[in-house]
Amino acid sequence: MKVFISREIPDIGVRMLNNKGIETVVWNQEKLISDVELIEQLKNVDAFISTASNKINKDFFYSCSHLKVIAQFAVGYDNIDISEATKLKIPIGNTPDVLSDATADVAFMLMLNVSRKAFYMHKKIIKGEWDFFRPTGNLGIELKNKTLGVFGLGRIGMEMARRCKGAYNMNIIYYNRSHNLIAERELSARKVDFEELLKNSDIISVHSALTEQTRNKFDLATFKLMKKNSIFINTARGAIHNENDLIQALNDKIIWGAGLDVTNPEPMQPDNILLSMSNVAVLPHIGSATEEARNNMAIICAENIIAGLSNKKLPYIVNPEVYI
Ligand code: GLV
Repeated sequence: MKVFISREIPDIGVRMLNNKGIETVVWNQEKLISDVELIEQLKNVDAFISTASNKINKDFFYSCSHLKVIAQFAVGYDNIDISEATKLKIPIGNTPDVLSDATADVAFMLMLNVSRKAFYMHKKIIKGEWDFFRPTGNLGIELKNKTLGVFGLGRIGMEMARRCKGAYNMNIIYYNRSHNLIAERELSARKVDFEELLKNSDIISVHSALTEQTRNKFDLATFKLMKKNSIFINTARGAIHNENDLIQALNDKIIWGAGLDVTNPEPMQPDNILLSMSNVAVLPHIGSATEEARNNMAIICAENIIAGLSNKKLPYIVNPEVYI
C-alpha cells in the first residue's frame, strides 16, 4: 500500500505508516503542489494525506475515485467536497482536539497583542521611533472583566473562552447552532443571537468552520453593529470576514482593532494596509504550529490512514455516513 503526502509532516506519523508496511511518497518541491500535479501524483497510490488547501472537489474525485482514504492534516476541511467523497464511499479524516490549545493560544495572543498594539510598538523601535515618555501616547485598552463573544463555540472556542475567563474574568457570550452545556456550566457562558453577540461583545473571536453560512459573515454591516471599542479576532478562516470591509471599519474607527491569524487570500501581501495599522496584528496562519500539536496531528493522520487502508472505521472521521 502507498500513501501520498502533499508536504513533509512530522516524522512520527511517517514512521507509524512505514512500520505498518505502508510506503510513503512525499512532495518536497519548494512550491505548493498544484491541483493538476496532485492528481498526477495520486494515480498510483491508495491513500492521501492532504496538508495544503488543494481543491478536493468533483473534478478531483473524477480522477481519484480509487483512493481508499483521505486524511486531512488539519481540523478544517472546507477545501473538500464531503458529500462527493461520501457518494464514492471514501472516508475523510481530520485532526480535531490536538490543536485546540495551540490555536486558542494564538487567538489569546492576538487579542492581548492588539489591545496593547504590541506588533506596532515593536516596529516603531526597529524604525528608531522610541523617543521619550508621553503620558497620552501608546495607549491600549484593558481586558479585565470585559465581554468575550465567541463565534462558534466548539473545541477551540472553548479553550479561548477558558483562557479569557481565567486570565481576565471575562463574561462569555457565544453564537452557535447548539448549546454548549459544558461552557454554560463551567464558564457561565450564555448563548445569544448574532446581533446580540455583535452589540454586546468587547472582543469577538471567530472559531467556526468556513461554510456557506459563515462565508463573508463579518462585513461592514456587522462591524457597524459592534462596539466602537471592540476587537475582532479571527483564527479560523480568512473568508469568514470581508477584508475590505474590515479595513474600512478600522479606518473609520467603527471598531477598535483586529487580530488575524487567517487572511483572504493567504499569504497576505506585504503591502497590505492592515500590516501598517497600529491596532492590528497579523500572523501567517500558525494556529496549530507547535511541536506538540503538529506531532499529534501527524499521529492522527497516520491512524486514520492505517484504519482506512485496513477497511476499519477512521478514529477521526468527518463523514461517518460512508459506513451506513
Ligand atoms: C488549520 O487551519 C486547521 O484547520 O487545522
